[in-house]
Amino acid sequence: MEEYVWWRDGVIYQIYPRSFLDTNGDGFGDLPGITSRLDYLADLGVAALWLSPIYPSPDADFGYDVADHTAIDPRYGTLADFEILVEEAHRRGLRIILDAVLNHTSDQHPWFLESRSSKDNPKRDWYSWRAAPNNWISAFGGRAWEYDPVTSEYYYHLFTREQPDLNFNNPEVRQAQLDVLRFWLERGVDGFRLDVFNTYFENPDLPDNPSSLLGRLGLPLQQHIQDADQPGLLPFLREMRALVDRYPGRYLVGETFGGPEAAARYVGDDLLHAAFSFDFTDSRWSWPFNPRYFMERGIRRETLFGAAQWPTNVLSNHDLPRAASRYARDDEDDGPARLAMALLLTLRGTPFMYQGEEIAMRDVALRRGEILDPPGRRYWPFYKGRDGCRAPFQWSAAPNAGFSAGMPWLKVHPDYRSRNLAGQKANPASFFYFTHRLIALRWIHPALQHGEFVPLAATREVLAYQRKAENETMTILLNFAKKPVDFDTSTALGHGFASQDGGSERGLPGAGARVLFSTGRPEGVVPGRIRLEPYEVCVLG
Ligand code: NOJ
Repeated sequence: MEEYVWWRDGVIYQIYPRSFLDTNGDGFGDLPGITSRLDYLADLGVAALWLSPIYPSPDADFGYDVADHTAIDPRYGTLADFEILVEEAHRRGLRIILDAVLNHTSDQHPWFLESRSSKDNPKRDWYSWRAAPNNWISAFGGRAWEYDPVTSEYYYHLFTREQPDLNFNNPEVRQAQLDVLRFWLERGVDGFRLDVFNTYFENPDLPDNPSSLLGRLGLPLQQHIQDADQPGLLPFLREMRALVDRYPGRYLVGETFGGPEAAARYVGDDLLHAAFSFDFTDSRWSWPFNPRYFMERGIRRETLFGAAQWPTNVLSNHDLPRAASRYARDDEDDGPARLAMALLLTLRGTPFMYQGEEIAMRDVALRRGEILDPPGRRYWPFYKGRDGCRAPFQWSAAPNAGFSAGMPWLKVHPDYRSRNLAGQKANPASFFYFTHRLIALRWIHPALQHGEFVPLAATREVLAYQRKAENETMTILLNFAKKPVDFDTSTALGHGFASQDGGSERGLPGAGARVLFSTGRPEGVVPGRIRLEPYEVCVLG
């Protein structure tokens, strides 16, 4: 029997603290709010909590502009509140993962205030300064260089101008950031989500980036070959890993926008434990939400991630439209959201569940004047930013969805009166119980946790695959259609995904397979040919 590994076999739940639960009425979620809901999270069955940044921040990028890496923003609480949270989480078997935003700081960070103060300040070289900008562009639009009148030079910022990039070619910067990790490891933190880790280093000569094809047509796009994935990165990741490995059971998961190839490159025994590859998140609208899309993406990822490189499953987070909003055809229809949740929890890889995903929360629609997110303000109406998925958690039908007794920092979704956790907990047929049951199924079936992925079929309507571990094989059938579909479980091969070994050796479920979980039928034996209900999620074992 393989040993249980929390970050591989368990579900990691992302908390966006400012929108989780406000206990002091200031309109911001806080750490005591998280602590007060640990019983709920333990009962949901997740293994770990990843907290988006909780450090002091002027909020130019909602916490991702850090003004002090080793303190707690007073709006969230105190270091003592954090220590209580860690202790209480651990008491319930929940791990805590912090968001380590190391690539850049706030322009109010003491390091940057020193760096900008004069050209001969000892911290001048902690950031990238030059007399004239190169052609690099910011991920949030426009030029990546900001003129600073104090010393009449420009500094580099990959994100907003209030987020100057640190210069990782400087060894003092690398040491300072390792010290940040050590500070939190000493306080019992179980791991880190590394914000945009593949852009830590820039080419020190700061040469121009070549423009991309679309860039030549005038769009603000270029090939990021000088400002990302530089040679210094791998040795530094090894140093980070060596540090983290001094503390047993700790974890590093990195964020890169580079796709599965880039992600796989940085995952390994002496590198990161995992890296987001965002394989399934570019299906923004319902049209790519079909069996072939998921099968092709799943297979592609399998070929890039070897057995030793554990992938992650992400369908929603604080930067993306929620999967339920991307795929559901109308507000009432949770069928597609159930399929998305089933994919998240049954594909090979660690599921990263975003707060509210367990009740299929939707993105809140905002008017132009309500948009807070910098890229949304810049590009509205072509891109409306990331506020929609950041709306407060819908706890109950009480005012402000039970999130806050004050004025929430961001509008609550008006559907909270009908879609909220308390209401769903009172209804055994709710989305919440669907999520809860599926997580429970994962806990008792090693095949769903760390079993290999075996593609079976992707027809127009049905996606079928297996997860296979030592002594068990689970078959997952997902009907993407809004109508019933006949599907023969014993002849699932023949749709282009059969491998050389043929079906019999794979132990395809035939007549006699048992339904372990289904939204369309009772548990028990199924015949070889079954009629899948609209949007049915069916797990056979
Ligand atoms: C990625 C984070 O997920 C996003 O929210 C943030 O804006 C950028 N990194 C910059 O830190």
